[in-house]
Amino acid sequence: MPKIILEHVTKRFDKFVAVDDLNMVIEDREFITLLGPSGCGKTTTLRQIAGLETPTEGRITIGDTVVFDSEKNINISPAKRDIGFLFQNYALWPHMTVYQNISFGLENLKWPKDRIRQRVSEMLAMLKIEQFEKRYPSELSGGQQQRVAIARTLAPEPKVLFMDEPLSNLDAKLRLEMRTELKRLHAETDSTFVYVTHDQLEAMTLATRICLMKDGVLQQYDPPLEVYNNPANLFVADFVGNPTMNFLPGTARVLDETHAEVTVLGRSFLFESDAPLGKPEGEDVVLGVRPEFIRLGSGGMEGKVYAALPAGMETTVQMTMGDQLVTSVEFGSVDYKANSPMRFEFHGQGLILFDKKSGKKLGRGSATQR
Ligand SMILES: Nc1ncnc2c1ncn2[C@@H]1O[C@H](COP(=O)(O)OP(=O)(O)O)[C@@H](O)[C@H]1O
Ligand SMILES: [Mg+2]
Repeated sequence: MPKIILEHVTKRFDKFVAVDDLNMVIEDREFITLLGPSGCGKTTTLRQIAGLETPTEGRITIGDTVVFDSEKNINISPAKRDIGFLFQNYALWPHMTVYQNISFGLENLKWPKDRIRQRVSEMLAMLKIEQFEKRYPSELSGGQQQRVAIARTLAPEPKVLFMDEPLSNLDAKLRLEMRTELKRLHAETDSTFVYVTHDQLEAMTLATRICLMKDGVLQQYDPPLEVYNNPANLFVADFVGNPTMNFLPGTARVLDETHAEVTVLGRSFLFESDAPLGKPEGEDVVLGVRPEFIRLGSGGMEGKVYAALPAGMETTVQMTMGDQLVTSVEFGSVDYKANSPMRFEFHGQGLILFDKKSGKKLGRGSATQR
């Protein structure tokens, strides 16, 4: 089973750099999501690995085979890369039944008849669409059609499965259901999944590792919780998590290797980092505080409730302190009155100190009010 290696992969469209010197290793059987805002180069990256787009520079290896090398003029065709595709606009063949849609590719590959029958049955069972075997696509719901498309893609046992926003045409409930199915499917097959999405929640919940890109440049390549808890920079911190992290602008004075005095919201805090602090470019910093690290009802800061949004399981509470909006999340349903005063404090070890100028993370730790 293959490991995929990208080395210095760059794609330029004329002068525009769509993918900029991308280096990454996708281990065998991983579920990678390429994540980032629209236009950041996700699809281009996927298409380059698949062989549908020719990189301007770099090298791509799948398993033991170099499939692309700009210096050695190697460029193996997509058909010979042993991969499967599932795109946003999957099209089933309308004049074929579900069974035929799945078996057709295997017939083209000249699989023996009984093996085809067995494999299609397996796929029908895995995707729970056995009862639709004889139906035509027009007789299926969107979600059922999607399952057929997945079955068709997986049937030839591709070593690598590429998916480009395959769930974006489905409604919210179905999307959630298909996410679960994809995750199970990944556990049940021996394939490596490479999955494009702009939906951070989809990436968080599905991936073994997230490759987060911005303007063609890799920002962070780590497991989802690492990206969430230990974002490399302001962009990553802002992109992942909902409601988003609070970014509190202020200043910092480094005291020693792991301590800094940080002033935000007009208050002074001792920031204690769990690792040596990075070197700030100036004294301007941003303290990043996830909403779950703001405790309401006690502490040395006081704001005014701007809005409370109870959603059943949790409540998002927005407060203003001066002209800063601060968001907190509480478990359970609580309804605070707008404009009522609210004490709050930071808690936990998960606060992130960023350098304002470069946006880079300086440290992660706790902030205690002085
Ligand atoms: N064939 C092309 N010609 C010119 N520019 C392109 C082409 N394909 C993609 N781009 C540009 O490259 C950038 C990245 O595109 P893409 O990889 O599709 O982004 P994403 O999938 O992250 O939304 C975009 O700015 C897009 O306009
Ligand atoms: Mg795209």
